[in-house]
Amino acid sequence: MPETNFDFDQLPERRGTGAIKWDRFPDYTPFWVADMDFASPDCVVEAMRRRVDHGVFGYAQAHAGLIEAVLGYLQEMHHVQVDEKDVVHLPGMVLALSLACRALAKPGDQVMINSPVYYPFFNVARDADAELIDVPFTRDETTWRFDWDAMESAVTSRTRILILCNPQNPLGRVFKEEEIRMLAEFCERHDLVLLSDEIHCDLILDSETSHYSALRLPESFQDRLITLMAPSKTYNIAGLGYSFAVIRNPELRRKFNDARGCTVSEVNALSMYAAEAAYKSGEPWRRDLIDYLRGNRDLLADFIDQEMPVLKIQEHAATYLYWIDCAALEVSHPVQFFAKEAGVFLTDGTPFGSSQHVRFNFGCPREHMLKGLQAMKEAIDRKNAAKQT
Ligand SMILES: Cc1ncc(COP(=O)(O)O)c(C=O)c1O
Repeated sequence: MPETNFDFDQLPERRGTGAIKWDRFPDYTPFWVADMDFASPDCVVEAMRRRVDHGVFGYAQAHAGLIEAVLGYLQEMHHVQVDEKDVVHLPGMVLALSLACRALAKPGDQVMINSPVYYPFFNVARDADAELIDVPFTRDETTWRFDWDAMESAVTSRTRILILCNPQNPLGRVFKEEEIRMLAEFCERHDLVLLSDEIHCDLILDSETSHYSALRLPESFQDRLITLMAPSKTYNIAGLGYSFAVIRNPELRRKFNDARGCTVSEVNALSMYAAEAAYKSGEPWRRDLIDYLRGNRDLLADFIDQEMPVLKIQEHAATYLYWIDCAALEVSHPVQFFAKEAGVFLTDGTPFGSSQHVRFNFGCPREHMLKGLQAMKEAIDRKNAAKQT
């Protein structure tokens, strides 16, 4: 069912619905956790409703419609042909990161990441009793880059996996084909598996930027690649828990599946119908969403530059999450400052690798976003006024 003209300006009442974002810290206006304050497209809600009407909710497996939807999505959006047997359906993405570490690293082995990055990247190596090597991104005036020399110096014969987040949360960067190819060469040179988390790949905001999935790397590389994707961020269905891994190497896939042990439950029956509908019929809604989010992102960037220049931002190309440098604000804990002084709850940069950053979630109605930004500006103005008296 094609669908357009969704009203992204309506703020749904989420308090009291068990939403982490709204119900965990009810005293504040939330711009933290990475879900959006928009209803999912009607096609998704309708697909679940039809499944609910059936009334029987026993253990589920990926049905033919879902498999068709996932393979069609990979072909249309990422220009890759994937075989049904190479797709592993999962009840979430972070657990897949953990499974991959447990499958491929033994105690004492190493897992490499580049920070700042989505905080579970720091923790999944621990599930395998592996060591973490963090090689931070370097930063210039406009953007963040891999530190190739530091990565070469840090990698050892015990390093097994490099975990990539592309598009990058929290930086909002979309890595270029050239960078992904360099990463692949790095992995080949050091015999690493590339674990590519591409959960945000359908949230690219500028038409001149496109996502280069690791699945498009040359065939010779595919044996050392695990790619993770999901419709959850794009269609705002993260609470339903569905993702998938593409693992073309049968031995790698076997190890990955074996690592489940008794720790991973079956995929939720409703989530698979939601995912099917999102991929098959959600595209018009997604396009409208991207236009709306681009508008929010541009307004947010202008607001910060003009009204809160003490906060520093860099180029942003994807996701509805903006990484904001608060160092010049000179407060010890920026998230606490904005919570206490503005009543606005942001994501703390500390577990992502930077205590002086916050992450602002602009996946919400524009007016709501502007109210949050205005409250932040007034808090900063009051702080400055107090300093002058
Ligand atoms: C890069 C990245 N990976 C994974 C996740 C979470 O995935 P899931 O909820 O399916 O575990 C997020 C959520 O924000 C994310 O940003």
